[in-house]
Amino acid sequence: MKTIFSGIQPSGTLTIGNYLGAIRQFVQLQNEHDCYFCIVDNHAITVPQDPATLQHNIRSLAAIYLASGINPEKSTLFIQSEVSAHTQLSWMLQSISYMGELERMTQFKDKSSGKEGVSSALFTYPALMAADILLYQTNIVPVGDDQTQHLELTRNLAQRFNNRYKETFAVPEIRVPEVGARIMSLQEPQKKMSKSDENEKGFISMLDSPKKIEKKIKSAVTDSEGIVKFDKENKPGISNLLTIYASCTGDSIESLEEKYKDRGYGEFKGDTAKAVLHLLEPIQDKYEQLINSNELDQILDQGTKKATETANKTLKKAYQAMGLGRK
Ligand code: AMP
Ligand code: TRP
Repeated sequence: MKTIFSGIQPSGTLTIGNYLGAIRQFVQLQNEHDCYFCIVDNHAITVPQDPATLQHNIRSLAAIYLASGINPEKSTLFIQSEVSAHTQLSWMLQSISYMGELERMTQFKDKSSGKEGVSSALFTYPALMAADILLYQTNIVPVGDDQTQHLELTRNLAQRFNNRYKETFAVPEIRVPEVGARIMSLQEPQKKMSKSDENEKGFISMLDSPKKIEKKIKSAVTDSEGIVKFDKENKPGISNLLTIYASCTGDSIESLEEKYKDRGYGEFKGDTAKAVLHLLEPIQDKYEQLINSNELDQILDQGTKKATETANKTLKKAYQAMGLGRK
């Protein structure tokens, strides 16, 4: 049995990119491993958030995790800011991170370029992410492929700390799904689908109504060739829809190319929408039952308790290794 850790930011309603790239793997992994899944609210505040909306998004994300199949009997589900060890270890890891390596992070470059008032927390964000992971002696981190660079940095920090002070942290491996590791925007298929996209037509939210989902898929950008074929370079829109369809149903991309060989984009898009709806409808039903329930709070309380116990053990080891405080 291995230890698994992953986190999602409560910065908006999750998209099917989050589901196919991340949550779906979590649900499979919990049957065989010791899993920690986190609502990383301290990461969300690295860009401005409205407090009331943030509160809503935290709760909504917890309900989505559970509605998608995260089982609190098997996994520990908790909120990052409720376990103070995360920010404590993050400070220690910032002290061994180099400005140069943080400057190279593409997520930082993307989120800060052309913006005024970029927070210093956005810059040191990867050290907090490393703390999240290292506190649980994590072996595997399931994420979408946009997180590869942050994971590399986490591994470097773990090794640097272990070498400089004392063996303290397990060095984690990344795990990205074979299909669905990067779902693209429906409107700009060269760009990752993101819940913080200003253009709502670019993403499918996990809580969108069936009508909205159909409309968004029907208006997804494609090309004028009229052939359903996977070709990321020349047909990024159709390739993205093929990826979405295949990851929703489990069909292979080749079998879908064959199925839609002599059919038009209209029919293909209609069926892609059906595949998405089939996947999301049961999740949406469960979400409605959970969002206002007391059960949700009980599960989160239990998660905070378990996560705090595990995290504090590692934090104590790290304090001792670095020589902080008294023995
Ligand atoms: P975030 O929404 O940035 O907190 O991401 C949460 C998880 O979802 C991370 O593991 C991401 O890699 C994954 N993810 C986010 N967007 C996508 C996408 N468009 N395709 C696949 N995975 C994604
Ligand atoms: N940085 C991740 C993202 O934007 C979210 C995250 C924070 C995370 N801490 C983590 C993912 C720890 C995996 C493990 O998607």
